[in-house]
Amino acid sequence: MSKRFTITAALPYTNGPLHIGHLAGVYVPADIYARYMRLKGHDVAFICGSDEHGVPITIKAKKEGVSPQDIVDHFNSNIKSSFKDFGISFDNYSRTSAKIHHETASDFFTNLHAKGEFIEETNAQLYDSKAAQFLADRFVIGTCPKCGNEESYGDQCEACGTSHNATDLLNPKSAITGVTPSLKETKHWFLPLDKHELFLKEWILDGHKSDWKPNVYGQCKSWIDDGLRPRAVTRDLDWGIPVPVKGAEGKVLYVWFDAPIGYISSTKEWAKRQGKDWEPYWKDNKTTLVHFIGKDNIVFHCIIFPAMLKAEGSYILPTNVPANEFLNLEGQKLSTSKNWAVWLPDYLKEFPDKQDVLRYVLTATAPETKDNDFTWKDFQARNNNELVAIFGNFINRVMVLTSKYYNGMAPTPQNFSSEDIAVLKLMKSYPVTISNSIERYRFREASQEFMNLARLGNKFLADSEPWKVIKTDPDRVQTIMYVALQIAAALAVLSEPLLPMSSQKLKTMLNLDLISWKDVESGDPMINPSHEIGKPELLFAKIEDTEIDFQLEKLAQSKLANETANKKIESQKEIISFEDFSKLDIRVGTVLAAKKMPKTKKLLVLQVDTGVDVRTIVSGIADSFTAEEVIGKRVTVLINLAPRNLRGVESQGMILMTETADGKLVFVNPDTSHNAANGLKIS
Ligand code: MF3
Ligand code: ZN
Repeated sequence: MSKRFTITAALPYTNGPLHIGHLAGVYVPADIYARYMRLKGHDVAFICGSDEHGVPITIKAKKEGVSPQDIVDHFNSNIKSSFKDFGISFDNYSRTSAKIHHETASDFFTNLHAKGEFIEETNAQLYDSKAAQFLADRFVIGTCPKCGNEESYGDQCEACGTSHNATDLLNPKSAITGVTPSLKETKHWFLPLDKHELFLKEWILDGHKSDWKPNVYGQCKSWIDDGLRPRAVTRDLDWGIPVPVKGAEGKVLYVWFDAPIGYISSTKEWAKRQGKDWEPYWKDNKTTLVHFIGKDNIVFHCIIFPAMLKAEGSYILPTNVPANEFLNLEGQKLSTSKNWAVWLPDYLKEFPDKQDVLRYVLTATAPETKDNDFTWKDFQARNNNELVAIFGNFINRVMVLTSKYYNGMAPTPQNFSSEDIAVLKLMKSYPVTISNSIERYRFREASQEFMNLARLGNKFLADSEPWKVIKTDPDRVQTIMYVALQIAAALAVLSEPLLPMSSQKLKTMLNLDLISWKDVESGDPMINPSHEIGKPELLFAKIEDTEIDFQLEKLAQSKLANETANKKIESQKEIISFEDFSKLDIRVGTVLAAKKMPKTKKLLVLQVDTGVDVRTIVSGIADSFTAEEVIGKRVTVLINLAPRNLRGVESQGMILMTETADGKLVFVNPDTSHNAANGLKIS
């Protein structure tokens, strides 16, 4: 029976390109699910769009000296093409800056306002007097009251995941000017989540204990157990959807109020284009609504948005919210600011025909139940050992042997052996197994079951050895190849949700267009005798070590750049008087001789011409320099430091040094381009 599905994927923030974490956490699983449901003949609306409001976009715009609109225009098209390139089959991709969205979100607010579903409250909010602006969300950075992370944002702490109000932060600082904000009164509209607590308890804690993922259920439970409080849904900002009530001039809707409504407006946009009615997709309780998101979005999709929908009254609630955990890269958290990511536009340039490979690897290692790690070595191994060596190899053998023995025409089977019958029976069970995994949101498991079917085919050919048998028993080979062709056809269909491009290529090679998931389920032959297949082509190609080394080198470069940039700058020491300063006697000097201090690791004993005299200075620089390297160096020397005895050698001064990001010492060289003589004073 055909059912209606509204499938949403989190609207990405439009302030940067997409990376593998986005694909793995949200868009590939959502796409597998949507493609699968379509293949099963269901009525699917797969909905997404760009999330174009919010503080990070305005911060980026300020930094780059352009308007927020410029930023979102640029990244909206960038993101949209990445989705297209990776075969993410949205039925509609909208933007929250679209007119239809402004209207829908605005009406939604007006409606709740009219129904008395908000609380209006004037209270003190953080205000940056230098920027003449209220600070909320990502405009404030301070210490998280829960875990002590000193770089928590006003709305959420990325270290412990807690979400809070900007006024909860300890030591708040403005992200715009760096000043400590003051408090200033302002009026806002709050959604009283406490009022919806009972409903949320019953709906989630009682109703979805067994069918929602434990990570999702657990987060909801901890939120509800902590006690829900009213939440402001408006902000003092100039980028966003104006609050559509009197007395709200200069205020906009909170981005997390408007963005989820974006699912609804995107559905409206789609329905209009299709000449359909959008309402059943959001209001008919026979519709299955599923939100695909990452774990940092759970509270918004499971608590706040449902409370909004419930307050409105005519909407359905999500059937499931299969949120994923996070994907790490080579053992480290993905990070845009640290450039620790594999960006999709880069990947595409470097692996132009390997979209399916990434979809496969990200699914096979998806962070479904816990955070997981993407490594380039694993990427290579899964491509070479699974896609190439199992799936690709099986298909290639089937194609090549069918061309060679039968000129590309499927043979007529003769007597089926018990192995043939067993293999065909097993093959018939795969669509059900894979369906079960997908319908329970276990995409990782589904990908492995798919590979198991390819494994079955590969093993069947390896065991029955048609290339040997052909010499003695050509009738037998006809049956073998007939069975193998059925498996190839099954793979062509079952690969569609996960590997859409390879599936298409394989269908074209097999000259199969109209077979469906049901045909595989039925166990009826999909390729009949005399069916003509096309030319063999390789589905996948081996990935060489050099390609992986290149990627690892790129990451090493990011790491280095970060270490340099993130080197902590020590805070300024106590103020000293001019008198204090003038006590220091610093001179230009030259190292005349140097030798290692015996039995030490770090010390060099230097003879330094200070202009005043030639003296001995013991310097702890042997980690960074050999004795030979420093002979002849022009140096900056503090000469009136009280002598110190180091390992029996009296050191009569100090050479000034600094340190690079990776901890190597370097000399603070005087500018000797004008032949500065030894003994010149530094002042
Ligand atoms: N832009 C948000 C993020 O990337 C997700 C928004 S989802 C929506 O985390 F429901 F609000 F649309
Ligand atoms: Zn925290």
